[in-house]
Amino acid sequence: MNFTEPRLCTISVTTGMLENGDGHYRKSYRDLDGLYADRAAFESILADRADDIAYEVTSYTPGGKTSDMILGVTRMAPGKVGREYFLTRGHIHANGDRPEIYQTLSGRGIMQMESPDGEVRLVEMGPQQVCYVPPFWIHRSVNIGDEDLVMFFSYPADSGQDYSIIARSGGMRVRIMDDGKGGWVAEDNTAWRNRSPEDVRAILENAGVAA
Ligand SMILES: [Fe+2]
Repeated sequence: MNFTEPRLCTISVTTGMLENGDGHYRKSYRDLDGLYADRAAFESILADRADDIAYEVTSYTPGGKTSDMILGVTRMAPGKVGREYFLTRGHIHANGDRPEIYQTLSGRGIMQMESPDGEVRLVEMGPQQVCYVPPFWIHRSVNIGDEDLVMFFSYPADSGQDYSIIARSGGMRVRIMDDGKGGWVAEDNTAWRNRSPEDVRAILENAGVAA
């Protein structure tokens, strides 16, 4: 039989990258247009450093089945757009019943999660803390520190990513903002609209789960 070969990868916490993986993508600030509340502040970042790397992901994909596990490392630069901390685009898994684990390796972050019916969970994470992101939760990470946020992640290889679910509801329900006292505060996103019961049912039914 042809059993899958084991693979050894090495994480460099310093560079925030997985070595000996097979995947790498970068997002520049230009790629994050429309995510932040403060349009003028975002424009000034674009004027300065539109093509700088906002975050990058290095990964290893052993195969494409549910029983294969993708693993990788994400590195996000620190900073804010106005008062809003830098974030990743965020998604729900296209096969919604697939979970994910994230482990913070360095920096401080928030795993921002939102259920299809609009519940919010914010999990603050420091080094060597692990967050289990359960099936069906929309998720993104937010860098609330003043250094790179480096996280290890792993999820079933057939999870897929649906990024549009966030855009369709006007963003995620809350924004993670500087509280002016060295910390963060979650503020309501006034553009957010909840998903309809039909939308929620479609997400569950797509994964073969009865609503
Ligand atoms: Fe994910």
